Amino acid sequence: MTPTSLRYGIVGAGYFGREFARILRGIPGAKVAGVYSPGNGAELAREADCLDASTLEDLLDEIDVVIVASPNHAHLEPVVAAAARGVHVFCEKPVALTYADCDAMLSACERAGTLFMAGHVLHFMPGVERAAQLVNEGAIGEPVVGRAVRTGWEDGSRAPSWKKTRALSGGHHFHHIHELDVLQLLMGAADTATMISGQAPQAGSRTGDEDPIALATLTLPHDRYATLEWGSVHRRPEHQITLQGTEGYLTIDMHEVGVTIHTGAQTERFPLHDSYAVDAERARQNASTTSGGGVTYGDASLRPPGWLRAGMHRELEYFDGLVRGTVSSGGFWRPLTDGTAARSSIATASALTLASELRRTVVISEVTAAR
Ligand SMILES: NC(=O)c1ccc[n+]([C@@H]2O[C@H](COP(=O)([O-])OP(=O)(O)OC[C@H]3O[C@@H](n4cnc5c(N)ncnc54)[C@H](O)[C@@H]3O)[C@@H](O)[C@H]2O)c1
Repeated sequence: MTPTSLRYGIVGAGYFGREFARILRGIPGAKVAGVYSPGNGAELAREADCLDASTLEDLLDEIDVVIVASPNHAHLEPVVAAAARGVHVFCEKPVALTYADCDAMLSACERAGTLFMAGHVLHFMPGVERAAQLVNEGAIGEPVVGRAVRTGWEDGSRAPSWKKTRALSGGHHFHHIHELDVLQLLMGAADTATMISGQAPQAGSRTGDEDPIALATLTLPHDRYATLEWGSVHRRPEHQITLQGTEGYLTIDMHEVGVTIHTGAQTERFPLHDSYAVDAERARQNASTTSGGGVTYGDASLRPPGWLRAGMHRELEYFDGLVRGTVSSGGFWRPLTDGTAARSSIATASALTLASELRRTVVISEVTAAR
C-alpha cells in the first residue's frame, strides 16, 4: 500500500536543510512541498521542484510538517508559527539559545497538539543507543563521573560565519550541544553548572567572537559530577564522552571512532556507526583535517559525510513514522519528542552561559524558574 503523502517544508536551505530535502525524497510518501530561506531558497526549490516561499506564512500554508534548519538563533519564530497552524515540527539542535525560547516552542506545540522533535542526531547512532541500553542495565554500575571533550584546531576564515558568532550560535556549548545532551541522557540532568570561557592568544579574529576555550563542570544529584570541554585552539584534537561507573567505564569515541565498555574483567568494543568500516572511514576523515573533525563546520556548498547522513536519515524516518502514527513514541527516542532532551540540554547550556558571565556556579533552577 502506498503511504499517504505528507507535505514537508524546509526552513533554511543550507548544509543541513538541503540534505534533509534529499533524504525526504527517499522516504515513501514524503514530499518536499516548499522551502523558506530568505535570499537563497531558489536553488533548493528548483532541485526539489517545490515552492520557493517568500514568507514563512506562505510556506506554512502549503505543508503538514516543517523541518527547521535555519541558524540556531532563528528557530523560535518558525516553530511557534508552525504550531499555530497545526504543522508538526522537527527542529535542529540547539533547539533554542535560551530556556525561555525553548519553553515557548515546546508549550506552543503542546497547546496545538502538534509533534515537536529535537534533532539530536547522536541518538540515532547505533553505538550511542547500545551504550545507553548497557548503562541503563547497570553494566558499569552507577555512573559517577562523566567527561566530554570536543576540541581541535580551527584555521577559521576571513569572514567567520554565523556558526562562529556568539549571539547567533550561542557559542560552542550550544552549537556543539550533542556532548552535553548525551552526557545527560546517560547520567540524568545536572543540578548545578559552572563554566569558565574565554579568548586565546592564538585564536585571532578569523574564528569569530565566540570563546575558543570553554571549560565546564556540572554536579548531578547523589554526588555525581561531569566535566565538559569545548575548544577550537587545540593542536591535539579530542572528541569523546567517557563515563566512570562504580563497576566499570564507557567511552564513546568520536575521534578514533568506536565505543568501548569495560565491565568487571571484560572489555567489549562495538561500532559507533553502522559498522566498523563506517567508523574507520570517519576516523580517516578526522585524521585528514587540521581540525581533527570535531570542530569542522559545514556550509551549503558541502554535503554531510555518509556517517552523518545515515543518522539524519534514521531520525527523519522515525519522525515521519511518528507523524503518520506508524511508530510508537515510547522507548529510547522518547526524550526527543516529550521535551526532555530539549529542555534539559537548553537549561544546562543556558546555565553554563550565565555561570561564565557571572563567574559563579549557577543552579539550573535559576534558569528554568526565570522563564
Ligand atoms: N545535528 C548536527 O550534527 C548538525 C550539523 C550541522 C548543522 N546543524 C544545525 O542545523 C541548523 C542549520 O545549520 P546549517 O549547517 O545548515 O547552516 P547553514 O548556514 O549552512 O544554513 C542555514 C540556512 O538558513 C538560512 N537562513 C538564515 N536565516 C534564516 C531565517 N531567519 N529563516 C530561514 N532561513 C534562514 C540561510 O540562508 C542558510 O541557507 C543549525 O541549527 C545547526 O546547528 C546540526
